[in-house]
Amino acid sequence: MFTRKLTHRLRMVIVAAGFLVGVITISISLSSALAQTTIRNANYPEIDIAPVFNAKNELLQPKDFREWVFIGAPFTPHGLNNGKANFPEFHNVYVQPAAFKAYRKTGKWPEGTMMVKELQLVDGPSEYPDGSRLEVSGRGYFPGKVNGLDVSVKDSKRFGKTKNWGYFNFNHAAPPYLAAAPERPAAECASCHMINAHEDMVYVNMYKPILNPLPTGKLDPLPTHKVEE
Ligand code: HEC
Repeated sequence: MFTRKLTHRLRMVIVAAGFLVGVITISISLSSALAQTTIRNANYPEIDIAPVFNAKNELLQPKDFREWVFIGAPFTPHGLNNGKANFPEFHNVYVQPAAFKAYRKTGKWPEGTMMVKELQLVDGPSEYPDGSRLEVSGRGYFPGKVNGLDVSVKDSKRFGKTKNWGYFNFNHAAPPYLAAAPERPAAECASCHMINAHEDMVYVNMYKPILNPLPTGKLDPLPTHKVEE
């Protein structure tokens, strides 16, 4: 009696597991189908997911940018800025896959490139005055809730006055972020990038270690040695 009950339960578990695997497979294939969404625009021939502006020249919030290429996460925590960092979050930076590939090939960001910077708060509660805490991996800062969205767009026709890039803020707070955002005045964003950025308005040195292809030296075939006789 007991064993029969157990076998029955086991069978139910197997059926449930099978169902779950089915659901997961369907959702994965659905989400990868959605990831293919492209927005073409003749003004940006090299770009697969083009920036879209409305009639008021506001930039629409780029969709699903978390599926783009993640190129880095500069970080300026309160603990290292007297508790007064303007952006105390991780600055997660994404770029469209086509822009990433074009930069690798030519060393230039094509027209229509969008750099998306999503802010991600430090996860608490902090255990030390500098805001850090312990994790099994060690003492440090760990990513928590997301908290804001900034975007820069390269378009020499629209933003020629600010070295070809326009800057947009979709809020510095928890999502939902704004659906559309106006270009910020040069004094608020572009001016600092114009003076300080490393190359073409972008702080690219911070992303270069990831922009460059991974060296494969160790995987190359071993050199053939002449065997001494
Ligand atoms: C005082 C200088 C300064 C101002 C003002 C400024 N930025 Fe930046 N921005 C930086 C620096 C430095 C980085 C790279 C390091 C970091 O994120 O801390 C950066 C990175 C970025 C990036 C990632 C791509 C890149 O260029 O490296 C975006 C997008 C961005 N900023 C948008 C904005 C927007 C939008 C505004 C205005 C709301 C703005 N920035 C104002 C200095 C500035």
